[in-house]
Amino acid sequence: MKNIRYELLNRENNVNLPPELGFGQIFTDHVFEMDYSPEQGWHNSVIKPLSQLSVHPAAMFIHYGQAAFEGMKAFKTDNNQVLLFRPERHFIRLNNSAKRLCMPEVDIDFAIHALKELVSIERHWIPTRKGEALYIRPFLFALDTQLGVRPSRTYKFIILLTPVGAYYPEGFKPVKILVQDEYVRTVRKGMGECKTPGNYAASLLAAEIARKEGYTQVLWLDGVEQKYIEEVGTMNIFIHLKDEVVTPKLTGGILHGVTRASVIHLLRDWGLTVNERLISIDELIQQYHNGNVMGVFGTGTAAVISSVGEIKYNNELLKFNDGEPEELAIKLFDEMLNFQYGRIPDRFGWTQQVPIPVSI
Ligand code: COI
Repeated sequence: MKNIRYELLNRENNVNLPPELGFGQIFTDHVFEMDYSPEQGWHNSVIKPLSQLSVHPAAMFIHYGQAAFEGMKAFKTDNNQVLLFRPERHFIRLNNSAKRLCMPEVDIDFAIHALKELVSIERHWIPTRKGEALYIRPFLFALDTQLGVRPSRTYKFIILLTPVGAYYPEGFKPVKILVQDEYVRTVRKGMGECKTPGNYAASLLAAEIARKEGYTQVLWLDGVEQKYIEEVGTMNIFIHLKDEVVTPKLTGGILHGVTRASVIHLLRDWGLTVNERLISIDELIQQYHNGNVMGVFGTGTAAVISSVGEIKYNNELLKFNDGEPEELAIKLFDEMLNFQYGRIPDRFGWTQQVPIPVSI
């Protein structure tokens, strides 16, 4: 295992968190960082105080978007243990994004080790109220300073931590989503599977249009025919029909959600039929008018499970469950939290414990 250098602040171990955390607005005191060069590979691993970055204006990530990130969470259990939810899946996905963007992969065992060290040092920042967690943002970006378009040779990897509450201002109340058929987020074989900043930049205009119409999120259709449902702004989507639960199949343009995979696993474990298949917006409308839609919900690390109360597509307004979260979404939300907060035996091996020094 490569060595990590520790440059730690001398500080009190108590943190006063505000009553409303929001999402990604306050940051803990320390970050993990390491650098990459072809000669040295990943090196210079350090846990150090959070500070401003100093980058050259020609750094390649600024101009050509060669960057990738992840979002995962740490939870404090009722007996003060700290659990990470499926960190290896997140680092595998980070490496897949890195490969697509011609960036070096990280060593997953080392990244998890570094993450555990950082979270252990920052454990006093982990909030404990219902639905709150420590959100973990690992990211990787290109640092060569030149303006020709080619893969960078040098990179930086950082892990940043932020105590968070609910992602949406609605909390667990159902969100309203607007179907977008004027713009597309990505196309198959593009970068939709990657967690790369450009995909989020591509979503902003449509999200603003939706927001002005009173909608929280955009439902994206496929980039070729604008016919098939793909994903919601920051979530994968599930449609609970009378005899199956459907989620769009991973055709290349959709993020491989870790919560998505966990929810599919849980639903099948509960005996429900889950089909990962193409589902068109026209089919959703038809199923709705036939009375077959029991509920719609989104899944994501930030959002966990978010019930959808309304979908608007041109002149069609689909309303679900009288504006209340559907029973299946509530059950899934509770079960995901049970795993994440270690309240039930982890029969799927989804969580990893962060070793905490014996002194606490
Ligand atoms: C996540 O769910 O972790 C995300 O990355 C969504 C987001 C806040 C960009």
